[in-house]
Amino acid sequence: MKETAIRSTLEVYVCNFGKSCSKFGSPELADGLKKWAKEEHQGAIKVVRSGCLGQCDDAVAVACYPERKFILGARPNDFEELKKGLVEALEKLDSIN
Ligand code: FES
Repeated sequence: MKETAIRSTLEVYVCNFGKSCSKFGSPELADGLKKWAKEEHQGAIKVVRSGCLGQCDDAVAVACYPERKFILGARPNDFEELKKGLVEALEKLDSIN
């Protein structure tokens, strides 16, 4: 067993469960955010396709850590607004650390 540092500062879980969120474009949203995070933030923001986050009535659900915040009702056309919010969250966390 060994330990190593986690590179990401911000972790974003985009529900991709078929029951609710995927009907509203969560796969497209997750893939777009993953690509953007990898290209623009080189691992500081990690985007994960998750299972159900228990917020099905407000699909698409996105969970952000370490903020412990849900973004609910997200749609693929909210991409730019989501990116802006994630950059602001990252800058806030970087200023603390
Ligand atoms: S299916 Fe996405 S929060 Fe439940």
